[in-house]
Amino acid sequence: MTDLSSRLGLPAEFNEWQGTIKYPDSISFEPWRKTLMNGVLWRSLEIAQSYKGEDILSFLLKYGEPNATFYSGQRGICENSGMQQLLKEHNLRLDTTILPPGLIGREFLRTMGHGHIGFPEIYQVISGNCAFLTFQVEKENGCAKKIARPRVVFAKQSDAVILSAQEFHISVNIGNTHLLLANIVSLKTPPLTDFSLINEYHGGPYYLVRGSVGEIVFERNPSYGKYEVPELERTSPSPQVNKQLQLKKEEPIFKLIPGRIGLLDFLNAA
Ligand SMILES: [Fe+2]
Repeated sequence: MTDLSSRLGLPAEFNEWQGTIKYPDSISFEPWRKTLMNGVLWRSLEIAQSYKGEDILSFLLKYGEPNATFYSGQRGICENSGMQQLLKEHNLRLDTTILPPGLIGREFLRTMGHGHIGFPEIYQVISGNCAFLTFQVEKENGCAKKIARPRVVFAKQSDAVILSAQEFHISVNIGNTHLLLANIVSLKTPPLTDFSLINEYHGGPYYLVRGSVGEIVFERNPSYGKYEVPELERTSPSPQVNKQLQLKKEEPIFKLIPGRIGLLDFLNAA
């Protein structure tokens, strides 16, 4: 078990092999998990391409136990009633996500992905290596017309990344260990996040796959064929984020609460 306190900003221990977190009883949260069966892997490149309508259970067994946890997390993490009150006053929620390493077919394991319907979000890598794959959808009369600004942000431990209100985002584990992410998002975000194109087209406009010598290759998602998809922009976390949030080197974003919580109010600006 690894003591996460200095990295997460809250008391916790991380089992890096199992990908589990243990908090003291004083910490409250709502646990959640995704399984093969509840749809996550349906959207992997391999599964999207190879599923031909056969029996779902036996098809999924090729990839693992259908009802086992694939990835998981904790929503609404809070240390005490004072913190709970403060987060409520500022309309903020603290969450974590744990994603195992590995591949499905050639594709790196990733979250299903979503958007927050008009609200930005802050993520921080607590453990592991992440590629945040993001893109925007320009709509006309409620219909998607154009894919804009697809980008990938390569982030390592302690890197903080702000995703804009318009960015759909998918977190990809490109490392060899469990990826642990912390995030802060507005409570004003609708409870049902926006999965629109991601659901329909089994992911974003690009997939991250492992090349023949282990390198990361970006492959276009053919399901987005009717859209003009711009070239993927490859970026690093902006040092501006740490300046904006007054974060010291390797300081956890959860440490912004309570003293610097006002710096997070922009997360509520839809
Ligand atoms: Fe998000």
